[in-house]
Amino acid sequence: MTYPYYKKLFDGKEMPYAFIDLDILKENTKQLLIRSHNKKVRLATKSIRCRSILDTLFKESDQIQGLMCFTAPEAIWLSKQGYDDLLIAYPTVHPNHLEAVAKEVKKGKRIYLMTDLPEHLQRINAAGTKMDVCLPVCLDLDMSSKFPGLHFGVHRSSVASVDGCKRYLSALNDCPNVALKGVMGYEAQIAGLGDNVRGQSLKNSVVRRLKAKSLKEITKRREAVVALVKAEGHTLDFVNGGGTGSLETTTKEDWVTEVTIGSGFYTSTLFDSYLKFRHLPAAVYAIEVVRIPDEDIYTCLGGGYVASGMPGTDKAPSVYLPEGASLTKNEMAGEVQTPVVYKGSEGLHIGDPVFMRHSKAGELCERFNQLYLISKGKILDEVDTYRGEGKCFL
Ligand SMILES: Cc1ncc(COP(=O)(O)O)c(C=O)c1O
Repeated sequence: MTYPYYKKLFDGKEMPYAFIDLDILKENTKQLLIRSHNKKVRLATKSIRCRSILDTLFKESDQIQGLMCFTAPEAIWLSKQGYDDLLIAYPTVHPNHLEAVAKEVKKGKRIYLMTDLPEHLQRINAAGTKMDVCLPVCLDLDMSSKFPGLHFGVHRSSVASVDGCKRYLSALNDCPNVALKGVMGYEAQIAGLGDNVRGQSLKNSVVRRLKAKSLKEITKRREAVVALVKAEGHTLDFVNGGGTGSLETTTKEDWVTEVTIGSGFYTSTLFDSYLKFRHLPAAVYAIEVVRIPDEDIYTCLGGGYVASGMPGTDKAPSVYLPEGASLTKNEMAGEVQTPVVYKGSEGLHIGDPVFMRHSKAGELCERFNQLYLISKGKILDEVDTYRGEGKCFL
């Protein structure tokens, strides 16, 4: 895409605004589904945070089924809007939230709660007993690798082995109002860690070697845990794995029934740096040039939408268009002012847009109430984000 294309399309619109390029979203979806092979795809709502886009993606292909939510209040809200097959990816522990989930399950909705500790199971069992319903849960299997002096992965689940799974299953036996219906293993160190970062060739080669080493053991771990769960008589609705960055490897595991995808649809900048794939930027925001303090410096209003995670320049937004424009090292993208260095030929003036990309996909939607939807040179619609619907979950 080019600077003049987007500039003309949004001529006269007030800034800042954010948009989804539906033509690019379609192309990304096509490529992501190819990368998913024959696995069912569950949408990671945290990386999308807009119901209209979720609906668009469901319409794209039958391969896309089910949502991976990030909190119980979100899953309950979506359930009430008519969505079903909702996996809450992180533990829910407040009794009010658990009872609200139980109410939806009692109505016949499929909402899976994430668990790994006996305390999770006990709290869910208490809510299930109170509401007189059996609640479906998913076991979160830790997929990190422990190398000498290095924890390669994330700190989430306490169940990291077959023995750990045995202890979990024994705690489950004491919870008659809980049914184990899913297993999830999210290999964050493969799916969420770039291995082709520009200017870091040495680090990239280390990361690639660590990924290869980790993969050897975690695939066996997931296979063994799934086999144990099944041998113990639990009938699973799904075995979930992966994310945008791991589709090539997660889909190789026969015992995995579905993969999760979120960030790849919008393709925020953190997903530009993988060796195995390259998707295109579909989610963009525009900020307005309001000052020209020096030659080749164009200072814009706002723009500093920094992503969560370990602070670093990779969490800052990036200038997308005009091509060749960049942030300054000292100021980067600011709360109220963002200076952009540009020496190219587009001829930036006061009131012109500068197009930016967020580093993380869904967090962009926490900064905007609406998204423009565009296709083939036209604005087709303006739709609410979660925020625009008055919803702020995390
Ligand atoms: C449990 C879980 N599964 C899958 C994903 C992958 O999501 P995405 O495709 O947005 O990277 C994540 C991301 O953090 C996650 O936490």
